[in-house]
Amino acid sequence: MRELALNVLDITENSLSAGAKLIRIALDIRFSADTFSICIEDDGCGMDAEMLARVTDPFTTTRTTRKVGMGLPLFKYSAESTGGRFDIRSEKGKGTRVYAEYRIGHIDRIPLGDFGGVILQLVTMNTGVDFVVTVRSEEAEGELDTRAFREVLGDVPFTEPEVRAYIKEYIQENLVTIYGGRL
Ligand SMILES: Nc1ncnc2c1ncn2[C@@H]1O[C@H](COP(=O)(O)OP(=O)(O)OP(=O)(O)O)[C@@H](O)[C@H]1O
Ligand SMILES: [Mg+2]
Repeated sequence: MRELALNVLDITENSLSAGAKLIRIALDIRFSADTFSICIEDDGCGMDAEMLARVTDPFTTTRTTRKVGMGLPLFKYSAESTGGRFDIRSEKGKGTRVYAEYRIGHIDRIPLGDFGGVILQLVTMNTGVDFVVTVRSEEAEGELDTRAFREVLGDVPFTEPEVRAYIKEYIQENLVTIYGGRL
């Protein structure tokens, strides 16, 4: 994938398919340590231990009774190929947490890309699902919580042009400015 933001979209789509009602996306940056991490956590249906063991490595098994895709393996590879790490935890009936850590300056690191655009798309296109998105660095911290927006907006959908424009600007000012063009 050309942009890590598209990996984030892919992984979050898994959470949506899992019936999540609240999805947390966190981008934590430590410029001084030349690392950042992406964490996607949901309260969806989760996976049992056997499924969990298979999902990050589709080539280690010959069992084909369940669909195994490439979203998680690609996300894992994107992190590990930079000398970073990957971790997935899941509990059946409780939810799933996917974590990837990157070395910023590594030659194989894929650019973050349009993270703000992906967040805007996720937030506006998924009525009935709440998102808490945080971006943190040593210098600043920003958060978007759709539950807070809903409290103010009531029944006004996020797809209303004025609302969408407001959210777009909010993402730009509170989340994207924290890393600017640096990732
Ligand atoms: N957050 C999640 N909650 C519950 N199950 C999950 C979650 N993420 C992944 N899974 C399970 O792991 C499988 C593999 O996910 P992965 O993203 O690698 O591939 P996929 O979604 O099946 O296909 P694609 O290649 O289109 O992403 C999913 O089909 C799903 O069964
Ligand atoms: Mg997927």
